[in-house]
Amino acid sequence: MKERERTFLMVKPDGVQRGLVGNIVSRLEIKGFKLVAMKMITISPELAARHYGEHKGKPFYDGLIEFITSAPVVAMIWEGDNVVEMVRSMMGATDPRNSAPGTMRGDLAVFMGKNIVHGSDSKESAEREMALFFQEDEICDYTLPSEGCLYD
Ligand code: RTP
Ligand code: MG
Repeated sequence: MKERERTFLMVKPDGVQRGLVGNIVSRLEIKGFKLVAMKMITISPELAARHYGEHKGKPFYDGLIEFITSAPVVAMIWEGDNVVEMVRSMMGATDPRNSAPGTMRGDLAVFMGKNIVHGSDSKESAEREMALFFQEDEICDYTLPSEGCLYD
């Protein structure tokens, strides 16, 4: 089986509480990406600090940590060619005021601090974030029957 790229995606507490998990999963499924890992967890302050370490010291950091640890999230790994970049584009801009219609944030969110999803911003971030949230044996290996219709 061909090795395809993987990315980390998380429905944030606001997305879970608004009942948007299914909508977000569905967008990625019908696009043609493969879901290979998924779990619901409440993020600890320690995990939040590691996940959002790049933002430490910024004015919004404390609020971001408080928010992301406030209620369960749904963490996932998705697989497909160019999945890191394509999922970021499907998420839309960080601030929903600038997210294009048709994107997750453009269609489903109105405020920067409650922008419903997180997605890895590079292949390096994806590797780091997948390892933070998942053990290797939690990532499933299976064939997507539609793969022959999706790729050459
Ligand atoms: P994320 O990491 O959550 O996927 O979002 P992102 O890459 O699009 O944006 P990033 O710059 O990594 O920021 C992380 C989250 O922090 C909040 N934020 N607030 N008030 C502000 O200036 C500000 N900037 C960022 C957002 O909720 C953003 O998703
Ligand atoms: Mg980010």
